[in-house]
Amino acid sequence: MLVRFLFMHGSACAMLSAAVAAHAADGPGAPFIPTPPAVVAEMLRVASVGASDVVYDLGSGDGRIVIAAAKEHGARGVGIERDPELVARAVANAERAGVADRVKFVRQDLFQADLAEATVIALYLLPAMNDALRPRLQGLRPGTRIVSHDFAMDDWEPDHVSVVQGKRVYLWIVRGK
Ligand SMILES: C[S@@+](CC[C@H](N)C(=O)[O-])C[C@H]1O[C@@H](n2cnc3c(N)ncnc32)[C@H](O)[C@@H]1O
Repeated sequence: MLVRFLFMHGSACAMLSAAVAAHAADGPGAPFIPTPPAVVAEMLRVASVGASDVVYDLGSGDGRIVIAAAKEHGARGVGIERDPELVARAVANAERAGVADRVKFVRQDLFQADLAEATVIALYLLPAMNDALRPRLQGLRPGTRIVSHDFAMDDWEPDHVSVVQGKRVYLWIVRGK
């Protein structure tokens, strides 16, 4: 209920911060607050997701981003999620959507995930988590697209920013060194 209230009335950062406090027993990290469908669609659009992509969602919640990537764009996808109940929900949602053969969900700390196979990475995390991930993301294969709902990454200049239903969507394209 608290999360729903904050989702409707708070700024995104205040919302996530308050929900973190409410979920302190889970340990540090962003709580589950789902990305609205129109924002999911925009994330996949700005990342130009297609059938040859492998989309990773770091903190995949109920699986909606990875499932939409497979269902709407023919991509493969991997969701990394620490909450086992959400992993189970995502697996059931993928089966219901008919994309279980193209997506998988792994119960894991996202900071430990092997990202080598990813061509697109989706994020809806706390700003500090984005900042902590940044060195790894910038070390991925050139051309890898990173999309983030609502939160930037310190002073890493995005390649594109759009706004949907009041939510910012950031895109970065990894450059070679
Ligand atoms: C704001 S929700 C976003 C869910 C989904 N990506 C979306 O946009 O609808 C953040 C998710 O990250 C997960 N999470 C937070 N910290 C994590 C960590 N260290 N490792 C894996 N998952 C984590 C939470 O359980 C939650 O499901």
